[in-house]
Amino acid sequence: MWYSTSLALLCIASVVQGLSFRASTNQPCFNISKPETPVLDPKWAESIDSFYYPVMSTNHLYRVAVDLLQKDPRDVRLSTVYYDACIKWYVNENETTTVKGFNGLSREYVRTPLKDNLDGFTFVGLGGIQDIYAGTLYTTLTDNKTFFVVATCMENGGMAWAAGSTTPTLTEETKKIVLDHVMSLGFNTEDFTELKYDTCEN
Ligand SMILES: *[C@@H]1O[C@H](CO)[C@@H](O)[C@H](O)[C@H]1NC(C)=O
Ligand SMILES: *[C@@H]1O[C@H](CO)[C@@H](O)[C@H](O)[C@H]1NC(C)=O
Ligand SMILES: *[C@@H]1O[C@H](CO)[C@@H](O)[C@H](O)[C@H]1NC(C)=O
Repeated sequence: MWYSTSLALLCIASVVQGLSFRASTNQPCFNISKPETPVLDPKWAESIDSFYYPVMSTNHLYRVAVDLLQKDPRDVRLSTVYYDACIKWYVNENETTTVKGFNGLSREYVRTPLKDNLDGFTFVGLGGIQDIYAGTLYTTLTDNKTFFVVATCMENGGMAWAAGSTTPTLTEETKKIVLDHVMSLGFNTEDFTELKYDTCEN
């Protein structure tokens, strides 16, 4: 192994700091951990076997890209990720989730539901050398039809958010709803990225 996970986390930490979160503490994680009513319709949630990743906080994409590429974080340039990543997520029946992108790369995560909160689960990479995307995920918004928003409290204390969608693009109206929502959770929405699927194979 050419460098340790802790070094990777250090590198990520410094990049994340540079990404200027309005709230750099755990507070939004605390705020979203106990929604009063279920957010997701379990029937709809269970029917989703794959989803696109149209918009996310930049550090969310960065972590996923680093994990997929298994590269030194300093060697990942987000500008080359936007059009080439073609990232899609697959919900497996064996309680893992697989992320695929960059023309054939994939990573698998074990998802374990939280007992007291059906909208939350923990996410841990399977056998990776750079498990930089481990943490607790909470669904905080959905229309129970096409999209959902997940806020992540990373194991190292970082925070990130992302939208999943059954279609490759969100409408402008939905995008605005998503951005207003994550702003209400305390995220700085100047710092988000959209992935384009126009040139992707599927
Ligand atoms: C989605 O379904 C859940 C569970 O039934 C419900 O609590 C929530 O209000 C629904 N949301 C919408 C936008 O329909
Ligand atoms: C879970 O299922 C997926 C899809 O069928 C498979 O690729 C993966 O290897 C399985 N993971 C484990 C840990 O069995
Ligand atoms: C989190 O919730 C507390 C109490 O409701 C509130 O005072 C605080 O502003 C919230 N933080 C964010 C970032 O929304």
